[in-house]
Amino acid sequence: MWLWALFACAPDPATAPADTPLGLEPWCRADSAEVEAWIDGLLPTMTLDEQVAQLSGNQLLPNAAGRWDTPDDEVHDIPGFRMMDGPRGAHSASGPATAFPVAAARGATWDPALEAQVGEAIGVEAAAAGVNMLLAPTVNVLRHPRWGRAQETYGEDPALLGAMGSAFVTGAQRVVLAQVKHFAVNSIEDTRFDVDVRIDDAPLHEVYLPHFRTIVAKAAAVMAAYNHVNGPPASESHPLLTQILRDQWGYPGIVVSDWVLATETTEGAAHAGLDVEMPYGKVYGDLLREAVEDGRVHPAVVAAAVRRVLRTKRCFGLDHVVPEALDPSQRLTDAHLDLAELVALRGSVLLYNDGGALPIAPTERVVVTGRIADVENIGDLGSSAVDAPDVVTAWEGLRDLAGARDVSLVAVDALAAADLSAADVVVVVAGLTSEDEGEGLLASGDRASLALRDDDLATIADVTARHDRVVVVLYGGSALTMPWRTDVEAALMAWYPGARGGSAIARLLYGDDNPSGRLPVTFPVEEADLPPFDNVSLTVTYDAFHGYRHLDRTGVAALFPFGHGLSYTTFVVGDPEVVVSDDGVRVTVDVTNTGDRDGIETIQVYVGPTQDDPTRPRRALGAFAQAELAAGATTTLTMTVPPGSFEVYEASGWVRRTGAWTVEVGRSASAIDAVAQVELP
Ligand code: BGC
Repeated sequence: MWLWALFACAPDPATAPADTPLGLEPWCRADSAEVEAWIDGLLPTMTLDEQVAQLSGNQLLPNAAGRWDTPDDEVHDIPGFRMMDGPRGAHSASGPATAFPVAAARGATWDPALEAQVGEAIGVEAAAAGVNMLLAPTVNVLRHPRWGRAQETYGEDPALLGAMGSAFVTGAQRVVLAQVKHFAVNSIEDTRFDVDVRIDDAPLHEVYLPHFRTIVAKAAAVMAAYNHVNGPPASESHPLLTQILRDQWGYPGIVVSDWVLATETTEGAAHAGLDVEMPYGKVYGDLLREAVEDGRVHPAVVAAAVRRVLRTKRCFGLDHVVPEALDPSQRLTDAHLDLAELVALRGSVLLYNDGGALPIAPTERVVVTGRIADVENIGDLGSSAVDAPDVVTAWEGLRDLAGARDVSLVAVDALAAADLSAADVVVVVAGLTSEDEGEGLLASGDRASLALRDDDLATIADVTARHDRVVVVLYGGSALTMPWRTDVEAALMAWYPGARGGSAIARLLYGDDNPSGRLPVTFPVEEADLPPFDNVSLTVTYDAFHGYRHLDRTGVAALFPFGHGLSYTTFVVGDPEVVVSDDGVRVTVDVTNTGDRDGIETIQVYVGPTQDDPTRPRRALGAFAQAELAAGATTTLTMTVPPGSFEVYEASGWVRRTGAWTVEVGRSASAIDAVAQVELP
């Protein structure tokens, strides 16, 4: 269907965050004029020491509650921040907590409303340890799936990152303040403290920053990254912290340094606009006071940072010093564990299913094997670590769901002697653990390659040689290569699926629930199909091409494209109606569940200028929506691609790109059901 229309309004890039299904709240929950008047009255009464004290944390290591605090000011009744990681649950240093599926799995749900529930639940469990500020979400663009912290973010696409990160913040901030991280272009672990990421303005603004802009419209705090960006460390980058974040975007909140190694000099940090140094005053504290006394830093610079700290506290209701209140009963509640299981169900991606190998019928005999079949595998051991009791392994999930069904575990070292011929299906559980990927220095760092480990490959080769119905369940934080694709009948990507992951895996394999996850990251055929991953050089250059944007340029097909995922039912997408309005481009489309099971389909809209621009990706995700449909049912989805998706960043700033734009409606970056064209004058 082709539709030519006029673009009626000139969008205002300075005030147009991408729209999300959850909408936007005002940044300040109090009356901002009263807040500023309160600060005007308070600031002159604070000594330099008292001001400087507001700008750094108390100590290097977390306190007994597992938090990093900034000091309370008892004289002025200003409470300190009480911070804790993290992205998939309250940090392990604070004791047992619910392990939610990692953000990669949550990105695969493509369900911001569900993500808001996760944000709120993590907020509640963090607040149970006295926290008032959560060090999450992580929303860095996954430039390459070998990034050790790939699991912590929502994938490769800024529109998906913006929607999911924003939803997390909305949920978390019902309970605590959220600190979105790591600003910006932070996506390598092994050189993370030193690497200088060189990037031009256009890819920076169009690919690496748009979701931050969306999220800081509501997030109380931003964490500046360790890596350097075009020279200075991100935590000392005036262009990032002041020119972009504050001057261009109007962000009124605080910027906090990443921990210990992000800052280098007092003047550099202060003049860039860094407000709070964590976890202690390495270049702030006494050194900042001395710099003011020596005249190297103007008192107004300190006062401006203190103003932002006070504003953030007051705007988000941190009004008084309050005694620490710990309430472990708020953790590991049935509701949170059930939510973790639901998210694992919704985020697991059925990558392929040849000949209907899945679901497994209740009467069939199942052998389960694999090195990690009975391993509690919930992800990285770095700052996102969660101390989760009673994690349900894949084997335990299958065993417990199976009940009277015939399912047995064969350890890998007993596999050679096992008779597989009696089994109707063999399930191999393979993939990554915290030994293979994680945070740099604290844990395993970047992945060595996209391949599975040799021992997993050997198990798959062994089993596929002896059985013709083999299903592989994969754990891991991002894409894996699958040279065994044609030997294995079906594969389910479970990511690191959290405390109840094994139960979710079992329900999906047996068809008690219908898979609905969609990939938030491109799975390439080979690693060479992606841009190189350089975690050795201390200078790297980023452009606008990674993931599907890169494959669109090279014309190489993905193994499984961004947005891909199968279901046990089938869907048909009707002809879309595409209308240009003041609010962007509205796409309306019917979706029908044509199979005999209930299911969820995710419809994706990609937009790009019709005339090729070799310096830019051909298209980008502009909007998406989900249809939850009973068998045979039809629904109508409406999605709006925001005006910002039709703009490019040039020397003069954001410019609407006029002319013909192609609008593609489909079910992955490669499965496009309909193409329309609009004309932007
Ligand atoms: C990580 C942050 C984390 C902080 C506190 C840093 O090393 O990069 O993501 O929030 O530590 O644990």
